[in-house]
Amino acid sequence: MPFLPAVLLLVLLGSLAAVSAQNLTESQLANVVARLADGATHPWELGTRAQAILEHDVRPFSVFSLSLPETSVPSNTSSAISPVFSIAKTVLSNRATSNKNITGPQPLVSDDSAADPASIGPAVLLANWTGRGQSDGVDYAGAAQDQFNFLYFRVPKTSDGAISHRTSELQLWSDFVYMVPPFLAYYGLLTNNQSLLEDAYTQIKLYRNYLRDTQSNNLWKHIQLGTGSGGSQVANDDGHWSTGNAWAAAGMLRVLASISTSSFSSSMSSEQDDLSSWIFEIQSGMYPHIDSSSSLFHNYADNTATFLDAASTALLASTVYRLSLLRSIHHFLPAAEQSRKALFGTNSSGDLTHFTSDGWLTPVVNPDNFGAEGTTSPEGQAFVLDLQAAWEDWVQDGSKGANGASRIRGGPSGAYLMVLFTFMGVWVMFI
Ligand SMILES: *[C@@H]1O[C@H](CO)[C@@H](O)[C@H](O)[C@H]1NC(C)=O
Ligand SMILES: *[C@@H]1O[C@H](CO)[C@@H](O)[C@H](O)[C@H]1NC(C)=O
Ligand SMILES: *[C@@H]1O[C@H](CO)[C@@H](O)[C@H](O)[C@H]1NC(C)=O
Ligand SMILES: *[C@@H]1O[C@H](CO)[C@@H](O)[C@H](O)[C@H]1NC(C)=O
Ligand SMILES: *[C@@H]1O[C@H](CO)[C@@H](O)[C@H](O)[C@H]1NC(C)=O
Ligand SMILES: *[C@@H]1O[C@H](CO)[C@@H](O)[C@H](O)[C@H]1NC(C)=O
Repeated sequence: MPFLPAVLLLVLLGSLAAVSAQNLTESQLANVVARLADGATHPWELGTRAQAILEHDVRPFSVFSLSLPETSVPSNTSSAISPVFSIAKTVLSNRATSNKNITGPQPLVSDDSAADPASIGPAVLLANWTGRGQSDGVDYAGAAQDQFNFLYFRVPKTSDGAISHRTSELQLWSDFVYMVPPFLAYYGLLTNNQSLLEDAYTQIKLYRNYLRDTQSNNLWKHIQLGTGSGGSQVANDDGHWSTGNAWAAAGMLRVLASISTSSFSSSMSSEQDDLSSWIFEIQSGMYPHIDSSSSLFHNYADNTATFLDAASTALLASTVYRLSLLRSIHHFLPAAEQSRKALFGTNSSGDLTHFTSDGWLTPVVNPDNFGAEGTTSPEGQAFVLDLQAAWEDWVQDGSKGANGASRIRGGPSGAYLMVLFTFMGVWVMFI
């Protein structure tokens, strides 16, 4: 009796494809934005905050708009973009006071990390691009160039050219991929310089060679090289830190978007293919480890003894929507949707289960101590906005691939097979 299976399959398929309307309200999002503003102080938090504001509140000026930003900010956009400019301006005025010799190779902020200050670079480049230098009385282009020269000429490198994540010794962290390559790529995009876009790609390629763990389904290790002894030095971390994997995938997406927006897009198609497959590779390593009852990742993805972490869960889910939008790779959308609905879900009294009443995401890893659970995470707040923005863009674009069926890669997913079987069922019905 072929009719019943066909109907069952259709029902199954329908429920898979249904996109639930779970969504944060304006006031909940405003709380997330406010807590992010309260909490972001470290260099990487400032850069990550600037990026989240662009993605969520100033979309035409985000790299994911896939068009060059306008050189002047429309008046209806100036208040939304003002926190980004204010980060750039504050950083530059602190730089002038802390270092009187304000020319020459130097980071935007003096820091133990060689990479984190560069995360503020895109905001500084955008301030230059939109002509803020004159009114603010600072040289944004010069500061960006100094940051660039610092990375290239002052920071230790591996023999094959991977720039260190740390200033005091040569050490590679997965975090780097969100901090430096997106800056180089954005620099290349705005100055129409292909070699900088190539450099962004090459740094990622090198980092992947050092950090990818082929023994663990290509999850990235957190920290390699370095002695890890003395002063501010940090021990190696062979573990597959979830936030590190998400930083890497999300950084790659920004580079991918920069290359694809640039005038070199067609001559850099193999680089874009690589980035796209490396992002998918991380997603493929991560999602099999998601905790099935909470739809969250453990702090170390494949170590169930570690606590659950909503921050990495949010950032990695955002990369799924972005990869779907940019490359039509939909394979992990059902998993990302599950995570998003869990993160933004409410209990029976209508309260968000993964946010405190004043808007902090929970539970989260401590941003200052990556092995420990924390209470508040500014970067986690930014990841919520990245996720919300990516999801909204995906919904706006027609929620393509909601059932995970991929046009390009991923092989025949369960949902794809269901479509096939449904057609077979219907066909059998007619004979
Ligand atoms: C989700 O909610 C936000 C504000 O709360 C709104 O701006 C947005 O349009 C909503 N998106 C969808 C897809 O429902
Ligand atoms: C600002 O105005 C332009 C038209 O001048 C419009 O296209 C755009 O959507 C507006 N942006 C916002 C954020 O309202
Ligand atoms: C100041 O910067 C210039 C330009 O890079 C450099 O030549 C000079 O040595 C620096 N001076 C000091 C005191 O660091
Ligand atoms: C700064 O902005 C100007 C004008 O938009 C642009 O021509 C220049 O390339 C920018 N410089 C950098 C370093 O981005
Ligand atoms: C691109 O950037 C590199 C690194 O700063 C520089 O050496 C090169 O001259 C630039 N190329 C162009 C065409 O501006
Ligand atoms: C829902 O969550 C809120 C905030 O955490 C809590 O106060 C309330 O008791 C919860 N309600 C139920 C039915 O669990």
